[in-house]
Amino acid sequence: MAGKILVTGGAGYIGSHTTLALLESGYNVIVLDNLCNSSIESLHRIETLCGKTPEFVQGDIRDRIMLDNLFASNHISAVLHFAGLKAVGESVNSPLEYYDNNVTGSITLCQAMARAEVYNLVFSSSATVYGEPTEMPIREDFPTGVPTNPYGRSKLMIEELLQDLAKSESRWSIALLRYFNPVGAHQSGMIGEAPNGHPNNLLPYVSQVAIGGLEQLSVFGANYPTQDGTGIRDYIHVQDLAEGHINALQNIVQRKGVDIWNLGTGTGYSVLEIIRAFEVVSGRKIPYKIVDRRPGDIAECWANPEKAELELNWKAKRGLSEMMSDIWRWQSNNPKGYD
Ligand code: NAD
Ligand code: UD1
Repeated sequence: MAGKILVTGGAGYIGSHTTLALLESGYNVIVLDNLCNSSIESLHRIETLCGKTPEFVQGDIRDRIMLDNLFASNHISAVLHFAGLKAVGESVNSPLEYYDNNVTGSITLCQAMARAEVYNLVFSSSATVYGEPTEMPIREDFPTGVPTNPYGRSKLMIEELLQDLAKSESRWSIALLRYFNPVGAHQSGMIGEAPNGHPNNLLPYVSQVAIGGLEQLSVFGANYPTQDGTGIRDYIHVQDLAEGHINALQNIVQRKGVDIWNLGTGTGYSVLEIIRAFEVVSGRKIPYKIVDRRPGDIAECWANPEKAELELNWKAKRGLSEMMSDIWRWQSNNPKGYD
């Protein structure tokens, strides 16, 4: 593709894996990140892994002047937009920060793109926009639901504003990628998920219990209407997710308008199945106790991934055991993340 790919949030968890995949596929990449939830070390490691360096701009997507300069001084053909805040609990306590970062940030980015006449955009959305569907697996044409927290609402708002934008100007070509539960790490064990402070999501918690950094896992509810009573999710390897972005990018440069794709595997696993799978690959016992349900959690959530397979020619290839062993390699090689 002529022109560079701008990756906002490219030093973060999913952005770093996608940046590596882009560089390996021959794209020229500029990473824009304010490093509020990531480390520049992820980009150094990408360089070690593939021998190529993404250009890096430390800046904020809400900084319009910086964005205008960036677009004016580079030939950018598409934007992969990962930048944003993602901690559900924190979003409840700091809603303004979340709406400002995620919604205002996305608006500012789109304004700068429109000014520079860059109309190709891939947006990181989430299965959270479906709310609590009555049927599984979830298809893209299911109605969006009512997310239970400001983080989820910010994702839905951005999706809606991008839909409006594409209607208002026919040159826009936008992919809304609804991720299910991203987990795993690059197979080298050199880049992975490095949550700040106490982890909220299941796999970072399990892996920190496994290395002894945390004492035991709390399983949030064992009385859901599922086969073992614990919540079921569609865990997807971050490398599969990264590859999905490249296919989405190739798709949107060939057409116009806005489209939605689920990025999931189509298979759900319960919390207890995850614990067992992690114990097998790590050879460590994961002590856990059953506690009350976490407010806002749903019983089950997994994707129908057929639309992405049909239209993007993309399918998740990596199974549960590979996800678990890649997390374990990353976690045991980097017990303190990038520190
Ligand atoms: P992450 O926190 O690791 O990455 C986000 C990156 O964006 C970080 O490097 C952070 O420093 C940067 N950033 C945040 N606000 C910024 C701003 N205003 N300007 C510039 N940079 C900024 O998160 P991730 O897990 O890689 O998620 C990437 C995207 O995918 C997010 O938009 C997230 O909401 C979405 N998503 C993530 C998940 C998940 O489980 N990880 C699931 C669904 C959707
Ligand atoms: C959560 C967010 C969702 C966000 C996604 C990715 C909530 C309610 N939802 O999804 O908006 O898009 O992360 O960032 O926070 N679990 C435990 N113990 C733990 C942690 C989790 O039992 O310590 C269980 C949960 O109840 C759930 C499953 O593990 O059944 C997965 O949880 P998690 O990894 O937090 O992801 P989601 O809740 O699916």
